[in-house]
Amino acid sequence: MVKAVVAGAAGGIGQPLSLLLKLNPLITELSLYDVVNSPGVAVDLSHINTPAQVKGFLPENNGAEEALKGADIVVIPAGVPRKPGMTRDDLFVNAGICATLAQAIANAAPKAFILVISNPVNSTVPVFAEVLKKSGAYDPKRLFGVTTLDVVRAATFVSSVVGKPLDAPKYNVPVVGGHSGATILPLLTQSEPQIPAAILNDQAKRDALIKRIQFGGDEVVEAKNGGGSATLSMAQAGAHFANLVIQAAFAGKTTVVQSYIDLEAAPGGKGVQKEIGSDLAYFSVNVELGRDGVQNILPIGNIDDQEKTLLAAAVKELGPSIEKGVQFTPAPP
Ligand code: NAI
Repeated sequence: MVKAVVAGAAGGIGQPLSLLLKLNPLITELSLYDVVNSPGVAVDLSHINTPAQVKGFLPENNGAEEALKGADIVVIPAGVPRKPGMTRDDLFVNAGICATLAQAIANAAPKAFILVISNPVNSTVPVFAEVLKKSGAYDPKRLFGVTTLDVVRAATFVSSVVGKPLDAPKYNVPVVGGHSGATILPLLTQSEPQIPAAILNDQAKRDALIKRIQFGGDEVVEAKNGGGSATLSMAQAGAHFANLVIQAAFAGKTTVVQSYIDLEAAPGGKGVQKEIGSDLAYFSVNVELGRDGVQNILPIGNIDDQEKTLLAAAVKELGPSIEKGVQFTPAPP
């Protein structure tokens, strides 16, 4: 019996994400919260003959907390997406929305796994942590910034450059760091299957591949031409990540994924801080998922000199974004 909640469920990501969660047979209860349209989305999805019982909630009558009561996992794509020319940092307006949702989770579902999709993830995850800390409801093992779309894109783009696009599902290219531009660090040298040396040693090809993974989101923003950012691919990535968290917590299936987390969540975080040469509090790392969420933080591992240079750039850019999230003061309710 797993209860999942989507906050921002009527949006571009929220609707397909809710659909994919409705199709997950492990979910028995699905609550959809949004400031608009969530009851309609809920009734629509409720006709699908899968186990999850779907209900929609609006802010009226304390709707957020009603939706969240008893939640095991909350997935959050609430907020404004990018328009052409905007960076994810321009979305810091979403910090207020995140703080409000964090408070509602602290009040109604303090033990839930929290999966943050709302951008800028590099800052919104610290915003969640700070609000939860103030309510005494913070468990760093249970808070995740969803960077799965970067990992999904890396597999797709790498398989294409290697000339094996049909093998995209077989590729596993770890992506660490953060979730915007230069903070996104794809570890091409750790790709499985390996990327042929002829490609890795071709500087122009390698640079183009890294840039495409780092700025893949811009391709979508530009193609949608004012109509928003990635929604369908993000919904798939978010539902996949949610499923892995659920499988680890409720079906005993441990996996290793990358996610942007508090490095204090598990002892391995100190080792990562040594590897990155910084005491950054948050980083997207290799996370072993278990019953309580983050079970173990694994090392980044061997990287080459070019990746070390990119790592230094990622660390430099992440610091201020984390600080911005930590320092954010929500408006009084
Ligand atoms: P959207 O505008 O289509 O949907 C956002 C939804 O949030 C809307 O339905 C809106 O009514 C709702 N909302 C606004 N304030 C709310 C509140 N206080 N409580 C609950 N719901 C609220 O936007 P879209 O395209 O779905 O993107 C959502 C967020 O996800 C954006 O911040 C976007 O940048 C981010 N994103 C993150 C990605 C990642 O890899 N982590 C990838 C793509 C987008």
